Amino acid sequence: MKPIAVSAMATDLQNLGLDLKNLPALEKMEPNKLRKVMRTFTKALGAKCSDCHNESDYAAMTPMKKIALHMWNDYVRGLSLDSGEPLYCDSCHQGRMKFLDRHDKKALGAWMDENYVDKMKRRDGKEHKCATCHGEPFDEDILARWTK
Ligand code: HEC
Ligand code: HEC
Ligand code: HEC
Repeated sequence: MKPIAVSAMATDLQNLGLDLKNLPALEKMEPNKLRKVMRTFTKALGAKCSDCHNESDYAAMTPMKKIALHMWNDYVRGLSLDSGEPLYCDSCHQGRMKFLDRHDKKALGAWMDENYVDKMKRRDGKEHKCATCHGEPFDEDILARWTK
């Protein structure tokens, strides 16, 4: 697993008239801009359109779209790198949809502490810890909760 990184896509987004430090809610974005943002998803995640969409109906909701909406609204808009440098999908995904090594949960917890807690902060100024994402009591299945 690669450490969390400063986004390399700030310029791509700037070219779309988007400021990484002040992104609108995805649901509120103008349709033509939203279309262009899709290219940043495929690039950041190494994904195809069909990984998230039913290609015969792009507006139809899918589990992957639900997750992507939360990732945008809760993580990219709700958090920032502790250094203040830009955070985007590529900071965590780095070209892959799945990247967690789950075979040793304890080691993964330590990796999350180092990367997702120590190197990040909340934009609302509240204390940032595992519970920001996993809730209290600790819920391992964040993605399952989002796709319910
Ligand atoms: C990582 C998942 C993901 C990928 C990959 C992705 N999309 Fe999307 N797409 C979304 C989400 C989330 C929305 C916004 C849903 C909302 O606001 O309700 C969306 C919205 C759209 C919409 C607007 C649909 C509507 O509601 O009218 C279009 C069109 C679209 N995407 C096309 C594409 C195309 C073309 C690609 C490939 C270049 C692509 N998407 C790749 C997640 C994805
Ligand atoms: C703070 C880190 C972080 C950021 C930022 C982030 N993600 Fe994720 N994302 C994750 C983690 C962790 C997973 C679980 C990966 C795994 O299972 O290996 C994940 C999983 C996903 C999945 C489900 C993949 C699958 O096949 O199950 C989608 C879709 C996704 N993210 C989209 C996005 C999009 C789109 C963005 C930017 C708007 C984004 N993510 C930003 C950490 C992040
Ligand atoms: C920025 C958000 C974020 C923070 C903060 C965070 N995690 Fe995670 N963590 C995730 C996501 C997303 C997943 C993937 C969840 C899923 O698959 O449903 C995950 C998965 C895990 C898993 C694997 C669960 C499984 O069943 O495979 C463990 C263990 C874990 N985290 C531990 C921790 C610990 C311990 C902390 C605090 C030191 C922490 N995480 C902080 C986002 C976060």
